[in-house]
Amino acid sequence: MDDDVARLRVEYAAGPLAAHTLGSDPMAVFVAWFALARAAATARSGPEANAMTAATVAADGTPSARMVLLKDVDERAAAFTWYTNLASRKANELATNDRAALCWWWPGEVPRQVRAVGRVTPVDRATSAAYFASRPIEARIGAAVSHQSRAVAHRSELDDRTAAINPARVELPDDWGGLRLVADELEFWQGRTGRLHDRITFLRLDDAGEPYAASAVASAGGAAAVRAAATEVTDPAGTRWWRVRLEP
Ligand SMILES: Cc1cc2nc3c(=O)[nH]c(=O)nc-3n(C[C@H](O)[C@H](O)[C@H](O)COP(=O)(O)O)c2cc1C
Repeated sequence: MDDDVARLRVEYAAGPLAAHTLGSDPMAVFVAWFALARAAATARSGPEANAMTAATVAADGTPSARMVLLKDVDERAAAFTWYTNLASRKANELATNDRAALCWWWPGEVPRQVRAVGRVTPVDRATSAAYFASRPIEARIGAAVSHQSRAVAHRSELDDRTAAINPARVELPDDWGGLRLVADELEFWQGRTGRLHDRITFLRLDDAGEPYAASAVASAGGAAAVRAAATEVTDPAGTRWWRVRLEP
C-alpha cells in the first residue's frame, strides 16, 4: 500500500471534556451526542450517524465485527437495538456468547467515539414485526430472500429468489429480527489536540455496588484503582454507575 497511509493525520481541535459535565446519566450523554452527530451528518462526518460497529465473539474465542444500523435507543435500560438475520454469523455467535460491543465514530466538528459493551438478547417478535412492516418494500424483500452469511454459488440465486417473491405478501421472516444490547459499560471519547484525548467511562454497578464489567475494570488497573478514581452516580432510572476517567 501507498506510504502516504502512515502520514495520514488529522489534528482534532475539540475542547476538553470534564467528567463532571457528563453528569449522572450516560444515556442522556449518548442521546445528546447522537443528536449532534445526526445534525452534523455531512460528507465529512458520514451520512449515517446511526451506523455502528457491532463486535461479537465465537465459541472458539475468535472475534468478528461488522457495521449495522442503530434502530432504537432505550434510555432507561441503556439498551441499543439493531435488526438482522437471526441465523447470520453475528447471531450464531451471540447464541453461544451473549456478550457484544458496539462502537460509533462521529468525526464531526467535535470528533467523538462512543463504545458500549454488554449482553445481547433477541427483541420480541411483535416489536420486530412492527419494525419490519415499517421498512421499504425492497428492504423487506432483501431480508426475506437472503440467508445472510451463508455461501452462495452465484448472485443469480438471490435474483431468482427475489423474482419468486410476491411483493404484496412479504411477512416477517422466521429468521429475522432485532438484537438488543443492554450496556454495562458506556465510554465517551472526545478528540483533543496533541492526542491526549478525553475518555470518560460509565460502569454499571450491581446491587452490591460492584461493577459488572470485570474486563474493563481489570484493564483500568483493578477494582481498588477504579474505585479510587471514580465518582458514583445514579441515573434517572435508578441505575448506579461509576463514572471514571481513563487515560487516553
Ligand atoms: C453502513 C452499513 C450498515 C449496515 N447495517 C446492517 C444492519 O443494520 N443489519 C445487518 O444485518 N447488516 C447490516 N450491514 C451489513 C453488515 O455489515 C454485514 O455484512 C452483515 O450483517 C453480515 O454480517 P455477519 O455475517 O457477520 O453476521 C450494514 C453494512 C454497512 C456498511
